[in-house]
Amino acid sequence: MEYTRLGSTGTTVSQLCFGTWRFGRETDGVVETDREEAHELLDAAWERGINFVDTANVYGTPHGTSEEYIGEWLEDHDREDFVLASKVYFPFDGWGDPGPNDSGLGRKHVRAQIEGTLDRLGTDYLDLYYIHRWDENTPIRETLRALTELVREGKVHYLGASTMAAWQLTKALWTADVDGLERFEVTQPLFHAGYRDDITDYLDVCADRDLAVCPYSPLAGGFLTGKYERVDEDDPTAFEGPEGARGSLDDRFEDYYLSERGWHVLDEVRAVADELDATPAQVALRWLIEQPNFTCVPIVGARTVDQLDENVGAVDLSLSDEQFDRIVDARYDEAGERWGHRT
Ligand SMILES: NC(=O)c1ccc[n+]([C@@H]2O[C@H](COP(=O)([O-])OP(=O)(O)OC[C@H]3O[C@@H](n4cnc5c(N)ncnc54)[C@H](OP(=O)(O)O)[C@@H]3O)[C@@H](O)[C@H]2O)c1
Repeated sequence: MEYTRLGSTGTTVSQLCFGTWRFGRETDGVVETDREEAHELLDAAWERGINFVDTANVYGTPHGTSEEYIGEWLEDHDREDFVLASKVYFPFDGWGDPGPNDSGLGRKHVRAQIEGTLDRLGTDYLDLYYIHRWDENTPIRETLRALTELVREGKVHYLGASTMAAWQLTKALWTADVDGLERFEVTQPLFHAGYRDDITDYLDVCADRDLAVCPYSPLAGGFLTGKYERVDEDDPTAFEGPEGARGSLDDRFEDYYLSERGWHVLDEVRAVADELDATPAQVALRWLIEQPNFTCVPIVGARTVDQLDENVGAVDLSLSDEQFDRIVDARYDEAGERWGHRT
């Protein structure tokens, strides 16, 4: 394993973070990763040198199960060996009908949720606490004040921000600067080579302020492993794939991960993988690790130890500048527009 400093923090993490979204998660009555499998995956990640683990209060069915599985596993390990990240925003008690202060980033909800998260993880501090989404109903100043208190109380080391617009990230950083509050040091956007949208402005903010970027769904939910095939030239959302994989389990798979751009990028990722005697998953992850303008630590979400082993192989790979650029170029059509987005 290779290690890198997390943006401008003093904390060092493995070049890959291990994501635990599917721990204890039930989809159509099927538990995607049960307790035993979760512990086996954490063992494997740790043995391969991964020291950075990502969870959220709402991962698992019921919510909190992912944090519980990790907490149980940590009982037999030295917590100090790990960089633990969790998140707050969504309603912990279910998606149904949350009370007025049971979600979002108001002081009351944030302070209530950190206690549950620490308890389930069996630790007295988090290395990294993300806001899971932007809260349109709470001033960012209140959220940053509440989060800054957690840092000053020693319950959290660093703050992070998941999915949001570039202007929102900029506003949060500006507010922290002018008010002398803790700022977001790490971001967690949906970002992979085949992502249908461009998030260049957001990534430019991260580069400018030396924030670490930890992309989620770095393999587009498994799409960039190459295990799905296109079945209709006119419809990028039509595909075939293995039974039991996310494509067949999750009915949002097409909307989240498939696009005209994605298939073009996958072709190039496959070509580069052939040249390097590597796999498409390894090339797609390496393309993220080698981002030139910011520290980039993809959050891999393997469901089996074999998948994890394959993904960890990305750490030993190296793309030439030409191979890196070919994957960038595959994101655009002959006119320089995003595939499928020409007006
Ligand atoms: N901040 C947010 O809003 C947010 C949102 C989503 C995720 N996350 C974080 O990001 C992490 C990763 O997200 P993700 O699970 O979507 O990541 P991903 O790497 O894009 O997809 C992971 C899935 O791809 C398949 N896969 C992975 N490696 C493979 C391999 N080598 N060969 C074949 N299939 C492989 C597995 O699913 P199958 O076996 O089912 O095909 C696996 O569950 C999550 O665990 C979570 O920590 C955060």
